[in-house]
Amino acid sequence: MRSLFVLEKREEKVVENIVFMAIFVHYLSILLITTVFSVVSFLLHRANRLRRLRLPPGNLGLPFLGETLQLISAYKTENPEPFVDKRVKRYGSIFTTHIFGEPTVFSADPETNRFILQNEGKLFECSYPGSISNLLGKHSLLLMKGNLHKRMHALTMSFANSSIIKDQLLVDIDRLIRLNLDSWPDRVFLMEEAKKITFELTVKQLLSFDPGEWSENLRKQYVLVIEGFFTIPLPLFSTTYRRAIKARRKVAEELSKIVSERREGYERGERKSDMLGALIGEWDEQFSNEEIVDFLVALLVAGYETTSTIMTLAVKFLTQTPLALAQLKEEHEEIRVKKSKSEALEWSDYKSMTFTQCVINETLRVANIISGVFRRTMTDVNIKGYTIPKDWKVFASFRAVHLDHDHFKDARTFNPWRWQNIPGTSCSGNFYTPFGGGPRLCPGYELARVEISIFLHHLATQFSWVPAEEDKLVFFPTTRTQKRYPINVQRRY
Ligand code: HEM
Repeated sequence: MRSLFVLEKREEKVVENIVFMAIFVHYLSILLITTVFSVVSFLLHRANRLRRLRLPPGNLGLPFLGETLQLISAYKTENPEPFVDKRVKRYGSIFTTHIFGEPTVFSADPETNRFILQNEGKLFECSYPGSISNLLGKHSLLLMKGNLHKRMHALTMSFANSSIIKDQLLVDIDRLIRLNLDSWPDRVFLMEEAKKITFELTVKQLLSFDPGEWSENLRKQYVLVIEGFFTIPLPLFSTTYRRAIKARRKVAEELSKIVSERREGYERGERKSDMLGALIGEWDEQFSNEEIVDFLVALLVAGYETTSTIMTLAVKFLTQTPLALAQLKEEHEEIRVKKSKSEALEWSDYKSMTFTQCVINETLRVANIISGVFRRTMTDVNIKGYTIPKDWKVFASFRAVHLDHDHFKDARTFNPWRWQNIPGTSCSGNFYTPFGGGPRLCPGYELARVEISIFLHHLATQFSWVPAEEDKLVFFPTTRTQKRYPINVQRRY
């Protein structure tokens, strides 16, 4: 009797379980069907909308990957141009692709690039990958928007304009470059030396610190932060990214200490006329240490790799073009011959370096480290008969325009003479945009030119050099030479 009762109980339990399972499966299938239905209708709606919008033509490539692998493999070579050439030939100079996880409209068209740059903050806003924006910090100028961006951009400009360079910075630029060159052994990695120089110059400009152990340690941390820019921003999966976050924390701690010391000095009435001094003292509102640190971090990043890469590549291209190197040397010998060996360069000397400016223009044209800028559309944007949907990525490629034969004769040849007899620094504001344009125009454009010119002056007048090894140029993840451009140098006096 008891066993019958137990059996009945067990059966009841089984029936209960079956009913529960049936209800569970029922709800699960409803949930599944609803989800599938919602996703499908969302995708259909989006596809319909995109079809109606008339996107620029192109190819979205493989699911998720898009055309990223093709882009990376092209830009890891010395001649990445076929990636863009092929698509421009097939679809025209504005085309749709899918890179780095998102559909992206790629512009190789100068008018469209100008439109994108000029409409910053109205139709487009800057857009950096997560790895870069996390490591820069949310208060960096590169990520700021609206009125605060306008004011901080103007402040940065005011610390790197011609009169500040002429009256305050030039003397340090000249002195610190000499100091570096004086310590060179017979063989150097030019890329490394150039980076060291630009970092020290920026630290001096921002904080008034002369180079020493502190700045060199800070630079080492910086290198780790920058390495993190080109990784997946997931600490769990990437050691490089984890290391970068740790280094960013250390950089922030170091800079924060300096900011606090400066604040104390400011309270005691001490004033310094550098960028940090302006951030602490000149504003109605007070910036927090975190805000100031983020701001300084971004400035150190912005001027570091960019200027040092152009310094190195100018030397590489000059070395490969002996006539240009001879003309550059002549220009600098003429300046030096009027001065004693150790006499500092003056603003008028810099202004007389006209061929040097042609070399810098041409280096920026053929191998700018900033090959273009990413933006995100803030609304549906109509351009050249196409519509780019809201929230889409756009890439304004400066490089594609700079290397287009329709805009520059023999565009893919290094020819600094093409800039002779062209007034100013550009052949046309539309075609030549190595420093960007619009509200985010590089505030360091003049400072970079001066630093590169003074560096070339001392290199050309003090040394002769030959490449120590063959070294190739690559363009991914950044523009650089594979072996950091090792050269054997010989001191001329
Ligand atoms: C050859 C060297 C350099 C090149 C090719 C270069 C190029 C550029 C370009 C193309 C942009 C525009 C980015 C955009 O529109 O999103 C930019 C922005 C910027 N650059 Fe430079 N740059 C150089 C040197 C410097 C230097 C020396 C400084 C230091 C003051 C600097 C500071 C900045 C800052 C702070 C921004 C962000 C501006 C903003 O978002 O408002 N750059 N740079």
